[in-house]
Amino acid sequence: QDTIAIAIDGPAAAGKSTVAKIVAKELSYVYIDTGAMYRALTLKALRNGARLNVEEDMHQLLMTTTIDLQQTGDGQRVLLDTEDVSLDVRSQEVTTQVSYVAVHGKVREEMVNRQRQLAEKKGVVMDGRDIGTHVIPDAEVKVFLIASVSERAERRHKENMEKGFPSDMEQLKEEIRMRDKIDSEREVSPLVKADDAIEVDTTSLTIDEVANRILSIVQDQL
Ligand code: C5P
Repeated sequence: QDTIAIAIDGPAAAGKSTVAKIVAKELSYVYIDTGAMYRALTLKALRNGARLNVEEDMHQLLMTTTIDLQQTGDGQRVLLDTEDVSLDVRSQEVTTQVSYVAVHGKVREEMVNRQRQLAEKKGVVMDGRDIGTHVIPDAEVKVFLIASVSERAERRHKENMEKGFPSDMEQLKEEIRMRDKIDSEREVSPLVKADDAIEVDTTSLTIDEVANRILSIVQDQL
């Protein structure tokens, strides 16, 4: 049976990575979290005190940076220049700054090159913002996940509480709205549903329901 490429895009905190991991595991495919790549670069820039808003600086930094996504039993490990930064890339500071790094055309061009290499052999579930539109426009399955802002903030809030992290609903809503705005309004490959993507509104669906819907879309393709 031939393997295919599955692109999962959508706004912030719509549950993309959670369902992408389940779908990948179910199919024994490789899961690739492209957001983690932008987050890793942002983390390094913040640590180095680099200028996030200067395209040339961010591009130069990326060209001397290795970002590896390693498969683990139930997800992925993020290695920044060989250092495991899987937790660090989820920090509040990285989350609020990453969209400013992701606007730069030269940064995106290099990230997309690296992502295409990872997707070359198919058998991948890749999640992000521009996977179906730019990274793998010929993906056999394209899904665009959406959910209301309050539902997305609610889920993040619950997750934070479970992990014992400080969490504020209003702040979460604001951060989600802000990231969606910057990601949707940028000039280079903005967040937009591909014409041939299937939109799934997850607001009133469970994680398993979303994963099963995607798996049935995949079955139709195989
Ligand atoms: O998916 P995640 O929320 O981790 O992505 C973090 C940020 O990285 C997004 O808000 C967006 O600015 C950027 N991103 C992107 N293109 C992708 C994946 C992520 O611009 N394919």
